[in-house]
Amino acid sequence: MGPNIAIYPGSFDPLTNGHLDLIERGSRLFDSLLVAILRNENKTSLFTVEERAQMLCQAVQGLANVSVESFDGLLVRFAADRGARVILRGIRAVSDYEYELQMALMNRKLHPDLETVFMLPGEAYSYVSSRLVMEVFRVGGSVKDLVPAHVEQRLKAKGRI
Ligand code: PNS
Repeated sequence: MGPNIAIYPGSFDPLTNGHLDLIERGSRLFDSLLVAILRNENKTSLFTVEERAQMLCQAVQGLANVSVESFDGLLVRFAADRGARVILRGIRAVSDYEYELQMALMNRKLHPDLETVFMLPGEAYSYVSSRLVMEVFRVGGSVKDLVPAHVEQRLKAKGRI
């Protein structure tokens, strides 16, 4: 068996400290971790995929076994192309579980050899989501401590959304 490669897929719009916490945990557990940003033309996003990739790259530059790419189409196909054996996902609370269960089982149906592994982010981030970060920012609230400083700067540079 070759290296144990895990893929951590998501929208990352924007990257939060919760994502980053999970990336750090995953990088300690697997030989390498590929952070995969979904290119979703149907979903209106705040940041372009390129902007999200830049922010992720900056955030993981100290983690030698973590890389960042974007993908479209089926996750399991992309994961298999990259030689990944594991899909990594974070579960914050019970409310995440149902959606994650469905996705994991669908992915298993599509590609039985790929295993989904769930990890818990640090409890300080159990309420942090990209959607809420965006919502708070939109109405002028502080997102300090919820996202990396460079993401906060990018948000400010976008101005009031
Ligand atoms: O951060 P998100 O938005 O919860 O991530 C969702 C993501 C990107 C993991 C999921 O939408 C996905 O894998 N999309 C790719 C298309 C696909 O493979 N769909 C079937 C999965 S059940």
